Amino acid sequence: MRVLSGIQPTGGIHWGNYFGAIRQYIDLQDEDEAYYFIANLHALTTIRDRDKLEQLTMDLAMDLLALGLDPERATLFVQSDVPEVSQLTWLLLTTTSMGLLERCHAYKEKKAKGLPADVGLFTYPVLMAADILAYDSNVVPVGEDQVQHIEVCRDIAGSFNHQFGEVFVIPKAKLLDSSSKVPGTDGEKMSKSYNNTLETFEPIKPQRKKIMRMTTDSRPMEQPKDPDSDHLFQLYSLFANDKQRDEMAALYRRGGFGYGEVKRALADLAEGYFAEARGRREDLEKHPDHVRDILAAGASRARDKANKVLTRAQQACGVAHRSDCRP
Ligand code: ADP
Ligand code: TRP
Repeated sequence: MRVLSGIQPTGGIHWGNYFGAIRQYIDLQDEDEAYYFIANLHALTTIRDRDKLEQLTMDLAMDLLALGLDPERATLFVQSDVPEVSQLTWLLLTTTSMGLLERCHAYKEKKAKGLPADVGLFTYPVLMAADILAYDSNVVPVGEDQVQHIEVCRDIAGSFNHQFGEVFVIPKAKLLDSSSKVPGTDGEKMSKSYNNTLETFEPIKPQRKKIMRMTTDSRPMEQPKDPDSDHLFQLYSLFANDKQRDEMAALYRRGGFGYGEVKRALADLAEGYFAEARGRREDLEKHPDHVRDILAAGASRARDKANKVLTRAQQACGVAHRSDCRP
C-alpha cells in the first residue's frame, strides 16, 4: 500500500495541524510506504512572493523532519522538484470536464463572493489529481476539506482509464481523525484564518504570554465547572497523560481554582511535549544543506516512480514519441 499526501507551505504548523494531521502522517510512515510532499505549486495560487515561498518551503521541511518524519522510512520531497507531475497535469486536463471543476468548492466559493479567480485555482484539483496518480498512490490521508478533491481525482483517473485503458491506480481517501477539533486561544477552531493559533515552534516566551492571555469563561473561581466544555481543558488534554487529565478534571469539578494555574500547567506540558522536536528543529536550522540533501534524495526517488507512470500515460494516449519511452 502506498500512502501519499501533500501539505501546503502556508506558515508555521499549529497545534491543530499537528494533532489533526501531521502526527497522523508521521504515524503512517511505520505502517505503509509513505510519500509526503510540500505542495509549493498549490501554494502559488495564494503566495506571490518569491522569498516568502522559498522560506516557507524550507521551514515546512524542517518542521516535518523535527516532528519525526523520518526520511529513511518516508519519502519527503518538494512538489515542484518532480516536473513529471506538471506534465501529467496536462494529459489529465484534456480529459477533465469543465463541469467537474466548476463544482469544486475553492473555485465556487471565490466566484460566489465575486472575487476574481485565476485558471490556477480553477484547475487546482487536476494538479492535485496528478500529484496522487503520478505515484500509483492507494491511500490519501486528508482532512474533510480535501475529500471532494480526492473524489475528483478518482473521477479523472476513471475517465482517463475508460478512454485509454488501465493506466492509473484509483486511490481512496482516508479521512484524518480530527473528530475533536483543536480549539484556538479564543475557544473557536484553531486556524490561521482566525488568528488564534499556538504554533509548534513558536518561541517559548511569547507563546507562554499568549497562553496566559487566553480567553476563559468568567464564572467565579469557587464555582465547579464542566471540564469537557472548556477549551483550556481540551488543550491541556492533548498533552496530558491519563493521570494528569483525571486530576485536572477533578479540579474543575471541585471548583475553587484560578484559570492562571491551568494555563501555567498547559504551557509547561506543551513545552515539555515539544522540547525534543524543538532541539531537532534548531539543529536542522544550522544545517540547511542537510535538509536540501534530504529533499533532493526524496525527489529523486519520487521522480523514478513518476517517470514510469507518466510514460505509461503518454504511451496510452499516443504522445510517447521519445525513443527512450518505447517499451
Ligand atoms: P488552517 O485552518 O490553519 O489554514 P489548514 O486548513 O492548513 O489549517 O489545515 C491543514 C490540516 O490540518 C487540515 O486538513 C486538518 O486535518 C488539520 N487541522 C487544521 N486545523 C485543525 C484543528 N483546529 N483541529 C484539528 N485539525 C486541524
Ligand atoms: N490541496 C491540499 C491542501 O490544501 C494539499 C495537496 C496538494 C494534497 N496535493 C495533494 C493533498 C495531493 C493530498 C494529495 O491541503
